[in-house]
Amino acid sequence: MNKKRIKIAIQKSGRLADHSSDLLKKCGLVVSRNKGQLIGYAENMPFDLLFVRDDDIPSLVKDNLADLGIVGLNVVLEKQFEYTNSTQKELFSIEEYLDFGQCRLSFAYPEVGDIQSLDQLANKKVATSYPFIVSDYLERENFDVEVIKFSGALELAPSLGSADAICDLVSSGRTLRVHNLNEGESILESTAVVIKSQNILDPFKQEWIRKLLERISGVLQVRESKYVMMHAPRNSIDKITELIPGTESPTIIPLEGTDETVALHVVCKEDVFWETLENLKQEGASSILVVPVEKMLV
Ligand code: PRP
Ligand code: ZN
Repeated sequence: MNKKRIKIAIQKSGRLADHSSDLLKKCGLVVSRNKGQLIGYAENMPFDLLFVRDDDIPSLVKDNLADLGIVGLNVVLEKQFEYTNSTQKELFSIEEYLDFGQCRLSFAYPEVGDIQSLDQLANKKVATSYPFIVSDYLERENFDVEVIKFSGALELAPSLGSADAICDLVSSGRTLRVHNLNEGESILESTAVVIKSQNILDPFKQEWIRKLLERISGVLQVRESKYVMMHAPRNSIDKITELIPGTESPTIIPLEGTDETVALHVVCKEDVFWETLENLKQEGASSILVVPVEKMLV
């Protein structure tokens, strides 16, 4: 493998997979990959994509087999605990929090049964794929519960008799419902993040990574951003600008044949709701147009 190419580890299949590929595409990567192949090559930039299990991503980045990774904060935190406990040095940093992969790590209890909260779980067993995060939480909160590490088919642990409760990721809640489990205490909110190896010395790689991270942050800003155009009374410019959330100074363009009305253009870094448009109209704005922004570099 070419040493000058930057390797990005992303989830092969699962909740983050499509979003991760999509984000990189939006950053300009044109990736060719044969179906089922575990590596993809960007044709137009020095990046290779490694398609792997999400749980393996932090180790790949830590061990320098990948330079960047897109993975859930939940997995990152669990690995960080693991490395600190084994006095391994933490060799990656969190570079960006992304706008997908939102979920929470929650306790869940069998619908039938007396145990429906942590208080009732004393001296009993909880199964989880996040033993470090869960043990740390239980210790801090002074709950005496035995933590059992389970990888895969966690939802079955209570019905198999291996545990009295589970602590797992919940996104829509569908998995819990299907397995007749009630969601209880949440102990962590998670989202997808970009992690970076701390061991990248090559200036060529550093420069491309900087560029990619800048584009990622541009893509995130753009997703919410809108370009707003309207006609506005000159004497309401200040009030109108205040009404539009997250804006920088507007561009004011004179209109032919009038001094009182101007055209006002502004980039708004948040979504623009109907209420805002109604308020703008009340301040005298007219012909209001809200259009999506395609790309942004700030
Ligand atoms: C998590 C979790 C559940 C599911 C919950 O798995 O382990 O299986 O998502 O989502 P829901 O509330 O929308 O049903 P994940 O996608 O992280 O896959 P993995 O555990 O195989 O990595
Ligand atoms: Zn996983």
